[in-house]
Amino acid sequence: MKQGRFIVLEGLDGSGKSTAAEMLKQALTQPGGAEPLLTREPSDGPIGRLIRQALTREITLDPKTFTLLFAADRYEHVRNEVLPALAEGRDVLCDRYYFSNLAYQGDVAPFETILGFNSLARDTITPDIVFFIDTPPEECMRRIHSGRNVEDELFERIDKLKSVQSLYMAAFERLKEEENVICIDGMLPPEGVCGEMMSHLQK
Ligand code: TYD
Repeated sequence: MKQGRFIVLEGLDGSGKSTAAEMLKQALTQPGGAEPLLTREPSDGPIGRLIRQALTREITLDPKTFTLLFAADRYEHVRNEVLPALAEGRDVLCDRYYFSNLAYQGDVAPFETILGFNSLARDTITPDIVFFIDTPPEECMRRIHSGRNVEDELFERIDKLKSVQSLYMAAFERLKEEENVICIDGMLPPEGVCGEMMSHLQK
């Protein structure tokens, strides 16, 4: 059986990434074909749940421990969910992968250290394609606040989003020989974002 494709979506909180992932899943669903798997990191497994407790400030962790946990969660997720689905011939759409760790925790440890933390997952599987939903931080903030009234998560502040944006760009630049990263204009309407992704996948 032909392996599915491993498709990663990256972007800031509020970038429209999760909507884009849902739409892409619909667009890739073919009658009679293997159903694409839409999955996310932090995962829904035990380490992912621990991470979400730290994101909502229920628990406090040392920032380096937190950084390592994302990488540990990623390896579990790859082994338990991503690889089995790909082996069944399903496309896997993964909402965030190690690029998120390099961008969001890029102020916690040097780039090479975080890349090293992720080497187990990265040596197991690199994405076939990464879509970066490129939405300006100010627009992301606007969307976060118009969409919900809940308490802010740890990273949903404008200064943090701006720093994450530049760390994403730095990571893509450093990995440009090894990774297939496509930037998609996040100011397009959702159908436009999905259409752009589909046209890259059909190339
Ligand atoms: P996400 O599920 O995309 O956000 P939401 O709760 O709005 O659906 O991601 C949760 C947060 O986790 C997000 O702010 C980014 C952060 N994150 C990291 O800091 N490092 C990582 O390696 C990953 C995967 C996520």
